[in-house]
Amino acid sequence: MKSLHRLVALCLLAFSLSAFSYTVPQGSPGFYHGNSSAAVTFDAHSLFLDNKRLYVFSGEVHPWRIPSGKAAWRDVFQKMKAAGFNSVSVYHHWGLSEGKQGSLDFNFFRSHTDVYEVAKEVGILVVPRPGPYINAETTAGGFPGWLTNNPAKARTNATGFTQAWTPFMTSVAKFAAPFQYPDGPVIAVQSENEFFPSSGSDTGRSEYMQAIENTLRGNGITKVPLTHNDANTGGRFVKGLGGVDLYMWDSYPQGFDCANPTSWSEVNSNYEPNAHQQYIPDEMWASGEFQGGSFDPWGGSGYDKCFQLTNEQFANVLYKNNYAAQTSYQNLYMTYGGTNWGNLAEPTVYTSYDYGAPIREDRTLSPKYSEIKLQATFLHSSPDFLIATSSTNGTSITTNSGIYASVLQSPTGVGFYILRQNSVKTLTSAQFQLRVNTSQGQLTVPQFGGSATLDGRESQILVSEYPFGSHKLQYSTAEIFAWSTIGGVDNIILYAQAGHSIEVVVSNVAAGSTAKVSGSTSINARTGNNNTVIITGSPSGISSVSISSKATVIVADKHTALSFWNIQLPSTTSTIYDKAPDVPSVFIFGPYLVRNATITGSRLAINGDTNVTSTTIDIIAPPQVNSVTWNGYPIRVTKSNIGTLRGTIITSLQPITLPNLKDASQWSCLDSLPEIQSNFDDSSWVTANKTATQRPIQPSAGKFVLYADEYGFHQGNTIARGHFTGNTATGVQLNVQGGFNFGYSVWVNDQFLGSNQGTNQYSSGGGTDQTTDTWTFNQTSLNTGDNVVTVVVDTTGLEEDYSGNDQFKTPRGIRGYKLIGGGDFDHWKIQGNLGGEDFPDKVRGPLNEGGLFVERQGGHLPGAPPTLFNQSSCTPLNGITSAGIRAYKTSFNLDIPTNVDAPVALQFTRTPSSSYRSVIYINGWQFGRFNSKDGPQTVFPLPEGILNHRGSNDLVVTLWSLDANGATIADLELVTTGIISSSKEAVAQVQSPSFSDLRL
Ligand SMILES: *[C@@H]1O[C@H](CO)[C@@H](O)[C@H](O)[C@H]1NC(C)=O
Repeated sequence: MKSLHRLVALCLLAFSLSAFSYTVPQGSPGFYHGNSSAAVTFDAHSLFLDNKRLYVFSGEVHPWRIPSGKAAWRDVFQKMKAAGFNSVSVYHHWGLSEGKQGSLDFNFFRSHTDVYEVAKEVGILVVPRPGPYINAETTAGGFPGWLTNNPAKARTNATGFTQAWTPFMTSVAKFAAPFQYPDGPVIAVQSENEFFPSSGSDTGRSEYMQAIENTLRGNGITKVPLTHNDANTGGRFVKGLGGVDLYMWDSYPQGFDCANPTSWSEVNSNYEPNAHQQYIPDEMWASGEFQGGSFDPWGGSGYDKCFQLTNEQFANVLYKNNYAAQTSYQNLYMTYGGTNWGNLAEPTVYTSYDYGAPIREDRTLSPKYSEIKLQATFLHSSPDFLIATSSTNGTSITTNSGIYASVLQSPTGVGFYILRQNSVKTLTSAQFQLRVNTSQGQLTVPQFGGSATLDGRESQILVSEYPFGSHKLQYSTAEIFAWSTIGGVDNIILYAQAGHSIEVVVSNVAAGSTAKVSGSTSINARTGNNNTVIITGSPSGISSVSISSKATVIVADKHTALSFWNIQLPSTTSTIYDKAPDVPSVFIFGPYLVRNATITGSRLAINGDTNVTSTTIDIIAPPQVNSVTWNGYPIRVTKSNIGTLRGTIITSLQPITLPNLKDASQWSCLDSLPEIQSNFDDSSWVTANKTATQRPIQPSAGKFVLYADEYGFHQGNTIARGHFTGNTATGVQLNVQGGFNFGYSVWVNDQFLGSNQGTNQYSSGGGTDQTTDTWTFNQTSLNTGDNVVTVVVDTTGLEEDYSGNDQFKTPRGIRGYKLIGGGDFDHWKIQGNLGGEDFPDKVRGPLNEGGLFVERQGGHLPGAPPTLFNQSSCTPLNGITSAGIRAYKTSFNLDIPTNVDAPVALQFTRTPSSSYRSVIYINGWQFGRFNSKDGPQTVFPLPEGILNHRGSNDLVVTLWSLDANGATIADLELVTTGIISSSKEAVAQVQSPSFSDLRL
């Protein structure tokens, strides 16, 4: 995922085209269809598995952003699969896996094998994207912190860099190799990310790309294609040195301006198909990343606004535009975003990585999820779509020139008409008739009166000569959800917006058939000429048209259709990954979520979730089914008037009572800034004695290099103490760099000098990631002997390296310093997370802890001694009355039933006029960084498995006032963000080390 503006990307495009000439890659295995030695192949249209075409409908998930592990991953993967995602794309994070060079660790949430195993169980394909550079809005773009001290230029073939990444990538390949299809779910592996080849004097790029591919191939990735995710449709690494087997492009067409969530750019329907023909006419057209939401910066608008920017209308119009471009692999970034817990963020994002994604950070389902389900299920039902090619497009396909249509025609005669309004800025509806190609010649439909309707920001995929079982839709002005032949009956499910008129002609109907409508009578059906049935009307609720018990056409209004599920049954004739219409399946209408279903004898067992106390469920299942269970409990079903098995799921959905955090007697606290006390002993701290750095950025002033990373401290808060002698100095000048929205406070001895803070990248002037400030001493604060300037820095992460210019090596901490009024500092001491790269916590990993006193002491860990929190009756709600840092601790129990999915979050109330920052620890896991001044995040999800839903929890919240007059947190409470009766596996508490394990 890129964090740069599109303009920059387009400049790169121009440079790439002129600077790169292609030759056929040597020695790389062929994955074109027809190569019998490859397990996964493709041609100009689509991927093949087992000689069968499939649409790869993929969603991006970063398992390391949900550290609760397998049960939580399973929940997300099951939700994806239920919506028609048949593949998941995962970045792996080098920096989390190698906190110290040479100490690779793939345990717990860092496991690759666990991800592949869960995907294999669930039946969802996987495309690993291990980098080694991933970008991903994560600190250093996924590089380890120690790499900032490696003088070799990153993302080139420089020897020092090659030596650094080779062990990680070798392990990655070895983990994935046994899971290559068909032995496991891995169908491709991506090399690097949004990368660009060597050009002119910028050498060693393509060589590095090729070296990654050689490492993957040499360590067992031999059965599946290697891919690259180009930063746009720039044609990079299609062929030649570093060229991949299958090129993929990425695109974020609506950008990231969540502050203007209803402002849309026009849609370009030609750019991508043209690029397909230009670069890879003989390869399928694949999008390695397509906008699934948007990230949001500190001080941004919040993820609900990002969701609005990329809402279900966005998904409707933009994804269907991709299908119009014959895209047959689409990966939505993000599909589940998760959390930048434990200092995972880079400076342009905050703790939540919700991303406005279809599955929200708390794992609840959004309206966009339902829209995607309608689309993905349709694509899997439509194998002809995979061989359809563009026949014509433009504004004259319908009778309304305000409508742009793309027509795709399959050699089998099926027509797909993808419609949107010509300007997506239009919000009003358009009436039209569509010209469709049928076996009866071209028809202008609806032909029996009235017109079809297309709303503003709506897209529709209409069809002609579309087969379902032994029947066809001669044409339909309603959209298709799915079809399946069940018990000898061809069932097809259609939908349209309530209030829109539809016209559908079913052909290949047996001579003499009758058509009978049941359910909602807003739909009419009659027999027509040439063995057809004509269906008209305006959908409202569910109508069913039975055609002589041989075919059933279900017509629903779109809102009702959002709760429809087409669930494949386990089958001996298809793989667990297959969602094509020849795989036996059932239809289930009504529930919030259906995860899976199986039939044993006459019993249909369904597993799913409900979010209301009473859910009517309608089932289309084979005729032998006469009993149904929901999550193991029988539900009474009877044959409904529309021919379904109908029952009611009753659940109780009791509200969850959460502990009240306002009770002062439940809190204790400690002073987390003893560093400003005169007797503070920093002799055990690292002495910052380097006088030179090999980084591109040199210190701006001062004898010693004070960059925290030079001394092994790569994340969170860091503290520097500069010692000088005598009382003649009058002040200090500091240049502090911590990334956008960083903050710092400075003291001389115990005199507070002041604070400064950065701004975000969208601020005027491009944002502030460093400041230079002069602070004046009060002479009475100084001693004739040793004096100390103490600087606490809150860094917002290491920068990314999107442009490959070693930007991730940008300093963090004090970049330059000068004592004013004579003299200089004798020496500086630096402190960050305990142990630096020799961090003790091998479960929570290298990035979890920062360098505040409370963190170094282990106060955030479960079982921290009560004596550490040596003050009582202090709460973050009362706060502190001067600049400084205090840490507060409370414990509470939860008892949430295992069959209830009740995501819990910690909710702050912001006081934007007050500058304070908090770090949140739940059971030793850092799950939030709150910034009162900038926001926007106030609700911090604490995921099950990190939060103990059935037992005790330790919560630590720090409060750092950057203002001289102190700060209080206006309100703090635990909230539930959903209550869902759920069949998900209860997420077990991650076994993580306690205070005694890590600090004694
Ligand atoms: C890196 O690639 C360049 C060609 O672009 C080559 O000249 C150089 O020798 C390579 N460096 C190493 C260390 O292999």
